[in-house]
Amino acid sequence: MTRFVELPAAPVNASQVPHLTSIHSQRGRGPYGSSHYRGNCGGYLIRDLISYFQPKNVLDLMSGSGTCRDVCRELRIPCRSMDIKRGQDAACASSYADLGRFDFVWAHPPYWRMIRYNSDDRCLSSAPTLEAFLDRMQTVLRLSKGVLSTRGKIAILIGGYSDQGRYQPLPQLLVERAIREGLWPACTEIIRFQHGNTSSRRTYQSSFIPGLHDTCLVFQADQQRKDSTP
Ligand SMILES: C[S@@+](CC[C@H](N)C(=O)[O-])C[C@H]1O[C@@H](n2cnc3c(N)ncnc32)[C@H](O)[C@@H]1O
Repeated sequence: MTRFVELPAAPVNASQVPHLTSIHSQRGRGPYGSSHYRGNCGGYLIRDLISYFQPKNVLDLMSGSGTCRDVCRELRIPCRSMDIKRGQDAACASSYADLGRFDFVWAHPPYWRMIRYNSDDRCLSSAPTLEAFLDRMQTVLRLSKGVLSTRGKIAILIGGYSDQGRYQPLPQLLVERAIREGLWPACTEIIRFQHGNTSSRRTYQSSFIPGLHDTCLVFQADQQRKDSTP
């Protein structure tokens, strides 16, 4: 059942993408990537973020079916991609050798083990514990921070979910890991409504509060922390 939700009015400002606010609710996925790739997102949020931050180049750390690559192709922005399914581990320093610097890093990781992508131990969805998943994501954050240009941003799309009866607040836990790595939010978190989610079409006997969104976190190097380093 579709219900209409009135969104709060956004203040008028000088943004080149005025419809980009802390709530992203666009139906459809656009002609980007594949809807058949499990757990994939659409391309509109990526397009809006790139249009807003205007990067000269993009690095996509977990490309899957190439949604970010397709957005970049449309916007005519050079994009480098990696994915563990092609043997490129975003948590390994050698994957970043000779890549150069990037204005925008996009990461759409597995939401821990909500979907198992493959049996490769290096795949983030293979992490045996929450702690191991967060440790690997922290390494990804450290390594991608190392290839950021001075105005560079790292955008991560991730959601919380219930794993064996225990809710896993992955976005919140990731913010804490990012801060440990000297990153700081570059703007508000963006709540992305998950229109067309497979689980939304199912019926469950149990009672719970359904999650209908995931969260995009945008980080940049924490200038204040750098300045305060003796
Ligand atoms: C949620 S999917 C991303 C889908 C993507 N947005 C698309 O356009 O199809 C997560 C991806 O992370 C990849 N992945 C998991 N662990 C990884 C790692 N350590 N390094 C690089 N990619 C990884 C998986 O192979 C999978 O393709």
